[in-house]
Amino acid sequence: MMEFAFSVAEKEIEKQWSLTYEEISSDLNKLELTTSTIQAVLQDAEEKQVKSRGLTVWLGQVKDVFYDVADVWDEFKCEALRRQVVETHGSIDSASYTSFNPRDFSHKIKVIKERFEEIAKVRAQFHLVERLDDRLIVQREMTHSFVHDSDVVGRDEDKEKIIDLLMHPSEDGTVPVISIVGIGGMGKTTLAQWVYNDERVAKNFASRIWVCVSEEFTVLKLAKEILKFAGGEISENMSMDKVQATLRSYLKEKRFFIVLDDVWNEDRNKWIGLKKLLIEGANGSKIVVTTRSHKVARVMAPGPIHELIGLPEDDCLVLFLKWAFVEGEEKQYPKLVEIGKQIVKKCSGVPLAVRTLGSLLYSKTEERDWISIRDNEIWKLEQKEDDILPAFKHLAAARFKIFNVGGVAKFNWLGFSDCESLISLPQGLKHLTALESLGIWRCEKINLMEGEDYPTRLRSFRISFLRKLVALPQWLIQSATTLQFLQIEWCVNLAALPEWLPNLTSLQKLQIRYCRKLSYLPEGMGRLTALRDLTIDDCGKLSKNCEREVGVEWPKIKHIPQIDIIQ
Ligand SMILES: Nc1ncnc2c1ncn2[C@@H]1O[C@H](COP(=O)(O)OP(=O)(O)OP(=O)(O)O)[C@@H](O)[C@H]1O
Ligand SMILES: [Mg+2]
Repeated sequence: MMEFAFSVAEKEIEKQWSLTYEEISSDLNKLELTTSTIQAVLQDAEEKQVKSRGLTVWLGQVKDVFYDVADVWDEFKCEALRRQVVETHGSIDSASYTSFNPRDFSHKIKVIKERFEEIAKVRAQFHLVERLDDRLIVQREMTHSFVHDSDVVGRDEDKEKIIDLLMHPSEDGTVPVISIVGIGGMGKTTLAQWVYNDERVAKNFASRIWVCVSEEFTVLKLAKEILKFAGGEISENMSMDKVQATLRSYLKEKRFFIVLDDVWNEDRNKWIGLKKLLIEGANGSKIVVTTRSHKVARVMAPGPIHELIGLPEDDCLVLFLKWAFVEGEEKQYPKLVEIGKQIVKKCSGVPLAVRTLGSLLYSKTEERDWISIRDNEIWKLEQKEDDILPAFKHLAAARFKIFNVGGVAKFNWLGFSDCESLISLPQGLKHLTALESLGIWRCEKINLMEGEDYPTRLRSFRISFLRKLVALPQWLIQSATTLQFLQIEWCVNLAALPEWLPNLTSLQKLQIRYCRKLSYLPEGMGRLTALRDLTIDDCGKLSKNCEREVGVEWPKIKHIPQIDIIQ
């Protein structure tokens, strides 16, 4: 009976969800728009607040609402994610239960909207000026084979070297693999595209194939991609044997050229499978691989490795000016060009850095905007081998998606989502002294204890779907006097909350959801005097132990004004 009731309720919620999903996302998008119109005047407000106490108060209110907007977005994304999991894997344990109520949620958005309206009304008093929005939303995209000659700056020597290697047949008749290796954003894909489109290459090979490997791959998936590119027919449930046979017949006796762009997989066995397939090609066929990792290049060997090093400074400046100005306009701004040269120097020859900063400063003619980029603290981050220039991890979505960076110059908001290869936090976080909010979602391999330095003054810390996590990272204590919001969700292996939790004396809101291995709260919860809002939702034994009035842990939390315990 209970089960039946539950399933009816579930269906009802499903119905509500599909009805309200569109509505909610449209509401949230509108909210985002309002946020960005207010964001546009924030820089001006921050500079003028020294002269106006009213403005300081107003800014405080704006900040609060922004945090709430971020909260509702997260809640919504989390629910969408949960639904995706249930859809893909069925109603499995931790993913099947939700406390999300579309109606309550819509109400929350409505309240935020009203607060925004109030804020917008008051804003008129301060005569604030709009400035360009610095926020970036960047995602790693699939690459393709096309590039215009005129878009590539420098790199002629690199191109000739690769083409030379491509034109020489290998002695033993097997397909040699040429690897282009370099840190993120160095221009490996661009170089491979340039080579791919070169006339000599087009003439020399009967068939050219471009595959963006990027995501986790299987031999079957890749073989299908290659087959599709080669003009073969593929179908959803084609077996490996069938794919292999068809691909072989396509590639047989043909001189082909394949680019495998953005390879991350270090599993030799997988490559052996693929290489066996490709080696059927006739003498003279070649594969070019682009990768950040020397290890990957070695796994793909035998074959030459072309190390891609920094673009010369002169070329970098050409690239930078191309992105920062409308053609020829730079002549009117010699001072900006001078600052531009200093910025370019800091980019270590990484075209991605050069291009990103150039485009960031596009149409900005205020000297201080340029200086703020030049003197930004992100430059202090240290470089690791096989990685992207650290300063640009945050801008350019290295192996992971950085989906929101609030204020490039200030870096107060950083989020990692779906970073399947991310094993630790990026080095140098401690230098981001303005970082207030850190979120990590669905990074299954991440170990938060690893790494050399950590953020020190967080206001908000949220984690979700971190399977490897068995304990909260102790470095959170460094934010003891600033951390106001802590959210822990779907950390299915988190076995206990740390004893030091009560040291987070600024904590106002604590949300723990779907962490079913938890049973008890640490001693000394009474020291969390600022805590006014506690949610413990579907946390197995912990939820039971915290049951209002009767749970054994209830005395530890009864002083908190707002408590939601859901079993
Ligand atoms: N020689 C160049 N001339 C002009 N722009 C370039 C050049 N090299 C790279 N870029 C630009 O820099 C950015 C990054 O380049 P690219 O994607 O080729 O780097 P990558 O080394 O493949 O990076 P990742 O390791 O992230 O795949 C691109 O936007 C590209 O257009
Ligand atoms: Mg690339």
